[in-house]
Amino acid sequence: MAAKIGLFFGTTTGKTEAAADMICEAFGGKEQVALHDIARAKPEDFAPTPA
Ligand SMILES: Cc1cc2nc3c(=O)[nH]c(=O)nc-3n(C[C@H](O)[C@H](O)[C@H](O)COP(=O)(O)O)c2cc1C
Repeated sequence: MAAKIGLFFGTTTGKTEAAADMICEAFGGKEQVALHDIARAKPEDFAPTPA
């Protein structure tokens, strides 16, 4: 089963979110990467996400 890459970030100013967005794009965008703000992440976000 193909799964997305889970990319979790924590940010206060938004700069780390911007960096995470760039990393996401470098890895093929949201088709390939499940991007999560750790402060709002739910337990199910840590389970494999089908690509
Ligand atoms: C909710 C939250 C969770 C974080 N978790 C981690 C962590 O697990 N490991 C780490 O190295 N830094 C963690 N950080 C720190 C930030 O990623 C780091 O300080 C970053 O430089 C924040 O900069 P920014 O607010 O300008 O984006 C966390 C920050 C926040 C707000």
